Amino acid sequence: MLTSFCASPALAAPSILRPETPQAEEIKSLAVSLFVISAVILFGVEAVLLAAIFRFRGRPEEMARQTHGDNTLEAVWTLIPTILVIIIFVMTVRTMDSIDLPGGDVNLKVTGHQWWWEVQYEEEGFATANEIHVPEGREIGIDLESADVIHSFWVPQIGGKTDLVPGRTNHTGFLAATRGTYLGACAEFCGLQHAHMRFYLVVESPSDFSAWVKGQQQPAAEPTDPAAVRGKEVFFSVPCAGCHAIRGTEAAGVLGPDLTHVGGRLSLAAGTLDNTRENLVLWLRDPQAAKPGNLMPTPQLDDAQLGDLAAYLDGLE
Ligand code: CUA
Repeated sequence: MLTSFCASPALAAPSILRPETPQAEEIKSLAVSLFVISAVILFGVEAVLLAAIFRFRGRPEEMARQTHGDNTLEAVWTLIPTILVIIIFVMTVRTMDSIDLPGGDVNLKVTGHQWWWEVQYEEEGFATANEIHVPEGREIGIDLESADVIHSFWVPQIGGKTDLVPGRTNHTGFLAATRGTYLGACAEFCGLQHAHMRFYLVVESPSDFSAWVKGQQQPAAEPTDPAAVRGKEVFFSVPCAGCHAIRGTEAAGVLGPDLTHVGGRLSLAAGTLDNTRENLVLWLRDPQAAKPGNLMPTPQLDDAQLGDLAAYLDGLE
């Protein structure tokens, strides 16, 4: 049975109302202010409307009387909304300005693909997928690009949405204030599996982050378990390496996620499945069943080969 990572209660329903960075905090206060303004307008207008309905009920002797425009009234109901729009505009621009972080202590590049996230730590010299690790207490800068269509990078508890637009580089940044694992998602419809384009942002202690970086910088572990050794042969007997890279082997494809440390990731297929051996087999047997429309072709393998291949990939931690 396919198990969904999204079912994990700790990561369920990330909300902008539970901000975990100063940037998300600013966005929340703007959202709350706009909500209050809207509520006051709604109840104010409805109150006046109800008052008018009861106060100025038609009386038979007045039914035929018509009134013509009132300049004062028209000026007032044009001015009030104009002033409100100006106030909201100024509040929004001030918030956008206050959450802007042009550079970071840690900088990375995220590229959107249909339907997964390529995450490059260029200074550190490695790439991963669908999972971003950052150290607590540091400012993080992320350059955002797209390999195909427009996507949008969004971790609701961390900051606002920023589009990934083909042919240009956008930027987002945040202060990684609170340790935790946060669910992120693509927030711009980008095709069939837009809903299965999720990722995880892990804010960890600086020492855990350094350890993670060191681990990621290592080339792939050489398999020792007999099933995994056979699995590596299976990997190179089918065209996996045409799309995927595994550092330390001759696999250097760039179309799909880098698999050097795939076994250590939280999820498979951009948050579609928990990363377990069982789900790896399910995924490899029929990627189109788990995530219809994705670009992964079905490797034609028997059950023994699938088990071995899953053992190899699972061991790449
Ligand atoms: Cu990528 Cu929606």
